[in-house]
Amino acid sequence: MRTISVVPGDGIGPEVIEPALELLAFLGLDVKLDVLDHVNAETYVSTGRALTEADLDRVRGSAATLLGAVGDPRLGDTPYVREVLTTLRVELDLYANYRPIRLWHDKLSPLRDKTKRGIDCVIVRENTEGLYSGAGGNLSAGSSQEVAFDLDVSSYRGVSRILDFAFSVARTSVCVVDKANAVRHGGTLWQRCWREAVERHPHIDTTHLYVDTAAMRLVTDPTAFDVIVTNNSNGDILSDLTAGLAGGLGVAASANLNAATGQGLFEPVHGSAPDIAGTGVANPFAAVLSVALLVEHLGHAREAEAVRAAVAAAIEHDRVTPDLGGSLSTRQAGAAVLAELR
Ligand code: NAI
Ligand code: MG
Repeated sequence: MRTISVVPGDGIGPEVIEPALELLAFLGLDVKLDVLDHVNAETYVSTGRALTEADLDRVRGSAATLLGAVGDPRLGDTPYVREVLTTLRVELDLYANYRPIRLWHDKLSPLRDKTKRGIDCVIVRENTEGLYSGAGGNLSAGSSQEVAFDLDVSSYRGVSRILDFAFSVARTSVCVVDKANAVRHGGTLWQRCWREAVERHPHIDTTHLYVDTAAMRLVTDPTAFDVIVTNNSNGDILSDLTAGLAGGLGVAASANLNAATGQGLFEPVHGSAPDIAGTGVANPFAAVLSVALLVEHLGHAREAEAVRAAVAAAIEHDRVTPDLGGSLSTRQAGAAVLAELR
């Protein structure tokens, strides 16, 4: 029996994880849960640390991890969120952030042109380097002369492996997105790694766009894309954009993966949403769709498709939370998906 470690986290994290775990239990797979419900802001406030070495060992020892969200308004300027998220991603070397987005129903699209609405693509975001590597500093901090700098780090190994990952999950095409015309050194490296990756994956179509153009193209015709691969910060921004083309953060799921070790952490794209935490209206679909990704990763593709079909049906029948135009609570929307599955 395989173990799934669960980090509910803060805010709406535990609220959306509850229906997600009910759904997982309903699927009746041969798995057991290891819930780390102390990995949260409370623990950070009282001990100064949220994720210990022992916690990491539990996560490492499990077949997959399900995370709700972390983040607390009291801890605004502290390294708390970074400590938890980055430690998990970096310690487990989960270099590939896989963010699929599909329009589950036409009514969720903000686009006017009906023929361009059907987005069904994946953002593959490099997860361990780029602008979020933490490298940087500041000169004359606090003075009127202060200069702050954050290094945008790209390594040959990091870029090559994320490109290989993107080609390996593509169905039809890979669009490489960078800003090589302005960010010169990293851009040159991405372009070189891309040329090499194309040689390793000759059967997949491939194109290139600068990130600003990609943002516009995604809004004018998202149907043109299959897999988009890009660095950490571009991927962060573009994947919120694609979420917005398909109903918003309430339906955006993600996986953090290492193709070599098979390790995976699955989580909704959204954060802890302190503005709605405790009110019972958070959309559980992103967490439920993250469970679909998780069970698919464990080899249960049929169950994953059934979960996705049930979410699509719940949306079709307007059994949804306020962010999607409905009036259901988190629990009711979770129950609606279960009802569709039955
Ligand atoms: P957020 O994703 O928590 O919220 C952004 C907006 O979307 C809010 O208006 C929120 O109410 C809404 N929203 C998010 N998820 C929703 C859902 N399931 N149903 C309905 N509405 C939803 O991002 P924000 O406000 O920038 O960050 C809040 C905290 O979460 C911060 O501490 C941040 O650092 C942390 N965060 C954590 C992440 C993670 O755990 N992976 C990812 C992003 C942010
Ligand atoms: Mg983000």
